[in-house]
Amino acid sequence: MDGPLLIDRLAFDPEAERRDLMAGLLRNPASIAPKYFYDELGCALYGAICRLPEYYPTRTEVALFQEKRLEMAEAIGQGRQFIDLGAGDCCKAKGWLPFLAPARYVAVDIALAEITGALERLAPDFPGVELVGVATDFSHALDLDDVLTETPALFFYPGSSIGNFTPAQARTFLARIRHYCVARPGSSLLIGVDGKKDKALLDAAYDDALGVTAAFNRNALRHLNAKFGLEFDVGGFVHAGFYNEAEGRIEMHLESVRDQSVLLDGQERVFRKGERIHTENSYKYAPAEFEAVLTDAGFASIRRWDAAGVAYSVYHAA
Ligand code: AVJ
Repeated sequence: MDGPLLIDRLAFDPEAERRDLMAGLLRNPASIAPKYFYDELGCALYGAICRLPEYYPTRTEVALFQEKRLEMAEAIGQGRQFIDLGAGDCCKAKGWLPFLAPARYVAVDIALAEITGALERLAPDFPGVELVGVATDFSHALDLDDVLTETPALFFYPGSSIGNFTPAQARTFLARIRHYCVARPGSSLLIGVDGKKDKALLDAAYDDALGVTAAFNRNALRHLNAKFGLEFDVGGFVHAGFYNEAEGRIEMHLESVRDQSVLLDGQERVFRKGERIHTENSYKYAPAEFEAVLTDAGFASIRRWDAAGVAYSVYHAA
């Protein structure tokens, strides 16, 4: 049997990527995209975050999937092409494969090494499923035109990663998925979304006592140094992660501990003591807010499952 097919679109336009990065760093306030968290060490650190007592989203969603698996599977149907957005180690999808019996499984992620290894480990257990990996930055644009077949699709977007988009970007992104669904009757979306909740719980989830989230955040600078030949002093920045209640989002920043400068393609960028580089937003949605986003994106039939104990929901939308 053939092994998994791997499509690598990461080096699509390296100059544009470099320009985007430099522009973000030179802007005031400076920012970098959250995709730069996920080099190999960053993926491992994210795996560790998911096991932290303070970080409730992953285990809450896993429990909700386990509890409601049959209801959700019935809403989705069998034999779909299973499109896993942000597949990572493919662990979440693995639990679904026996229930959904998909015709093909397409793991989409920014981390090529991660999905390559994960698909190889998956292959022996699912000989009847066509396995495809697509390494791409879908936060930029979701372009699966030459990857999707005509089979009805399930778009699987778990983990509350939709929170990395602004609500307006989320609408655009979901409208794109909806457009793929319309072209393939019987298609749908299964998405996990974190809810608005007490600030103390959210603050702890994104600024844990062990400092794993801090390491995850600072690792983005290590990654930039290695990938783009920069010379950030990783020790010169500290983690700031907190819930901004007015905006309904977690914000993560790297805060300069002293005046320092970094050379960016010939331009010196000074970071004053206390100055921040924004690295991530993670928007939280009340159920009515997220249902409005889905409706605005064109989805009509929406079903929601709420976790017990903590505000976290899974939505199925067609
Ligand atoms: C992978 C985007 C879902 O926003 O909770 C975890 C990333 N950042 N801790 C999230 C993250 C800090 C995570 N997502």
